[in-house]
Amino acid sequence: MKSFITCSLIAISVMTAHAEPGIGTLPAAQKSATINGSISDAKQIIPKEIYGQFAEHLGTCIYGGLWVGENSNIPNTNGYRTDVLNALKDLKIPVLRWPGGCFADEYHWMDGIGPKENRPKMVNNNWGGTIEDNSFGTHEFLNLCEMLNCEPYISGNVGSGTVEELAKWVEYMTSDGDSPMANLRRKNGRDKAWKVKYLGVGNESWGCGGDMRPEYYADLYRRYAVYCRNYDDNRLYKVASGASDYDYNWTEVLMDRARRQMHGLSLHYYTVKGWSGSKGSATQFDNDDYYWTLGKCREVEDVLKKHIAIMDKHDPQKRVNLLLDEWGTWWDEEPGTIRGHLYQQNTLRDAFVASLSFDIFHKYTERLTMANIAQIANVLQSMVLTNDKGQMVLTPTYHVFKMYTVHQDAMHIPLDINADKMIVRDNRILPMVSATASKDKNGVVHISLSNVDLANEQDITINLTDLKAKTVTGEVLTSKNIDDHNTFDNPNIVNIKEFKGAKLNKGTLQVKLPAKSIVTLRVEN
Ligand code: AHR
Repeated sequence: MKSFITCSLIAISVMTAHAEPGIGTLPAAQKSATINGSISDAKQIIPKEIYGQFAEHLGTCIYGGLWVGENSNIPNTNGYRTDVLNALKDLKIPVLRWPGGCFADEYHWMDGIGPKENRPKMVNNNWGGTIEDNSFGTHEFLNLCEMLNCEPYISGNVGSGTVEELAKWVEYMTSDGDSPMANLRRKNGRDKAWKVKYLGVGNESWGCGGDMRPEYYADLYRRYAVYCRNYDDNRLYKVASGASDYDYNWTEVLMDRARRQMHGLSLHYYTVKGWSGSKGSATQFDNDDYYWTLGKCREVEDVLKKHIAIMDKHDPQKRVNLLLDEWGTWWDEEPGTIRGHLYQQNTLRDAFVASLSFDIFHKYTERLTMANIAQIANVLQSMVLTNDKGQMVLTPTYHVFKMYTVHQDAMHIPLDINADKMIVRDNRILPMVSATASKDKNGVVHISLSNVDLANEQDITINLTDLKAKTVTGEVLTSKNIDDHNTFDNPNIVNIKEFKGAKLNKGTLQVKLPAKSIVTLRVEN
């Protein structure tokens, strides 16, 4: 990785005490920040579903990543990779979206039930033309959710399916009565209905999910929503396929025409350079690329605000939730891997995309109630990378998810952060310090801090009024280089370590935050 900062980076200072802005570097005199907040302002819960995951039939996410089958030489538990299963359990995954993505709108669920030898094959047209043998289907997915103790989020086929097909899928999964689909499920070995809450009605219906106009999709959504029934005590939470990034018109039309029929509306936002041409390497980038990435990642805040403003206009009572059910980094595929399989490495840069994103998501949970990173294994910004020799690595992103589990279902403490800012490529403003804080049900306060500055340590003063605490401990994620990543040969290059750089002095926290580091502090009595 090249170690220069290009002239497009202009450091600016927002604190009067800071040095004058310089071109191409941060002001050397200023490496401090202040963070203020009040525990009594903690009124909004951070729903654990903000830490959701997404698993698609794409590349080796399902086959090889989560599932190897009972007869594999790779250690498995009823066909699921045991190493992956154990790693994922530590993330306390609240919800898992499946089977796509684009795949969902070509998936016919009946092909994935019954004896495996009878299941028909299909071509995975979206993702490299790979042959899908349907050996991982409804039972395999819902049983996995039970093992992970998470809510399933089913993405239904609207693009190439029928209302009848989706309605019957719901009946198959959730009906406990003497109904035709419930009896078929029993015949296939599952007596009791599963609980399925989240039902996505199509995916990216403006694109791979049917290339529809929002007006057409809104009507179609309403029709599907009628026939997806609540069986017994199962209550569906229906999610309409939402906009991509900056398509505010899609949200406007959907909210105008179908808000009464939906519980949630989705949104997709990727940290990506663009949809045509190279997206850049996951591991080879310069400082300019790094800072640009974080600027692009943080732009999700503006995008969320604008979609939320449209939703507020149509639904001031905030009855309809916003679900960011795909987000994360999207780089070029690793050289030597199959085209269309979206297998990418994951560096400390990706870890910052995760921490900065969560810091933003926590602020909008009055409307934003779920987020699902793309994807759980071997695809895009994944938690784990696996190979067919039975090896697995935990990515830097995995470690951020783990460090942030403490914020799940905790009360969000709003923060006021004063730190240096930098103007990065494409004229985005990037603060050097990002943070979030919450108070859990036992009164323990957790503060997560990210110092995105590649060169400078930050002296951070944190004042939280009403903080009654005696001890502070912490964990840190950092590495020598920003492009460091974990490999099968070296799986622990980027790893969580104990952090000893925080001190408590009469209710004020003083933190020495190393350059390019992510820290979570635990503050308690
Ligand atoms: O996550 C990969 C793909 O990105 C999904 O299949 C699709 O919904 C989105 O375009």
